[in-house]
Amino acid sequence: MTLESTTAESASDNTSAPKLILTGITPSGIPHLGNYVGAIRPAIEAIKNSNDDAFFFLSDYHAIVKCHDPAIVHESTKAIAATWLACGLDPERVTFYRQSDIPEIPELAWILNCSCAKGLMNRAHAYKAAVDLNLEKTDVDADHGVSMGLFGYPVLMAADILMFNATHVPVGRDQIQHIEMARDIAGTFNHRYKALFTLPSAVVDDDIPLLTGLDGRKMSKSYNNTIPLFGELNPQVSSEKQMQKAIMRIVTNSQLPDEPKNPDDSSIFEIYRAFATPDEIRDLRAQFEAGIAWGDAKEALFNKINDEISPYRERYEYLMSHPKELEEILQMGAAKARRHSKKQLDKARRAIGIKPLAKLK
Ligand code: TRP
Repeated sequence: MTLESTTAESASDNTSAPKLILTGITPSGIPHLGNYVGAIRPAIEAIKNSNDDAFFFLSDYHAIVKCHDPAIVHESTKAIAATWLACGLDPERVTFYRQSDIPEIPELAWILNCSCAKGLMNRAHAYKAAVDLNLEKTDVDADHGVSMGLFGYPVLMAADILMFNATHVPVGRDQIQHIEMARDIAGTFNHRYKALFTLPSAVVDDDIPLLTGLDGRKMSKSYNNTIPLFGELNPQVSSEKQMQKAIMRIVTNSQLPDEPKNPDDSSIFEIYRAFATPDEIRDLRAQFEAGIAWGDAKEALFNKINDEISPYRERYEYLMSHPKELEEILQMGAAKARRHSKKQLDKARRAIGIKPLAKLK
């Protein structure tokens, strides 16, 4: 586990200071095995083993930056909430809410926009990548297809984090720059008005495996090569069968049964490692070397994953068919979160000079 971007000002430098862990999950798709191994499982484990305050939320206002299909935003919010809860997130322990239920967040984002240099946003990787793509073309403007939502994405993210004075923000490597930007924006505000915001640190776990997808590239929704965790929406086939079918589609070479196979060159083995004990891993390695058939290796992988996932599947399916319960849990989280956000926004507004002219009655 690495703590990125710490400086002398960081609250996290003081190891005895209470930690507040916060992270956002963008609901723009259905969770797959890579999400489970890379984010869901480690986050839930980390919380179970600590007493730190934790805020996990669904960043639906971030989802609409890229996803313009209302049905996907809506269904994915439901599926992701159900997934995290089914996999063991305890909503009594963790404040679990939907970003859009906290109206103070976009309000704070506006205030922070006014303490954020435009030049800082010009340097954001995602924005620069979009511009670079346009510059390769001759017929479009450099900012073609770039919305203000995409450009200002890091400011909304800063509002998510600074609203609750989060100290530790677990993220993937691609998000580190956004946490640095949140620090930058907080620093400008604190210096200009009042030291209101804690400077957050990104937490990146280097030990977490990046799963390979069905086609040998990194497992990612954008490559369409994922193994679904609990199955696609409105399934005609059971979610267990969907997972099994996806595993059977993993691309292998054409080595025959009984031919010795190289485990270190196989995505089946690589995914297996993310679920198995050291003994089981050693055992499958030996079976590869002894020439296990690809079909049998896939079956071993399916069984291994299914042992871990199937206890969660029932709870997932229950929650998906009881959206009222999901909504109640999210509203409970929103009520907890708003106890903080209302106070924090009020402080920010007062700091910038926005407050009642006089007390009425
Ligand atoms: N941008 C993050 C992602 O795509 C999600 C996110 C939104 C987030 N707001 C956040 C993560 C605040 C950490 C803190 O992964």
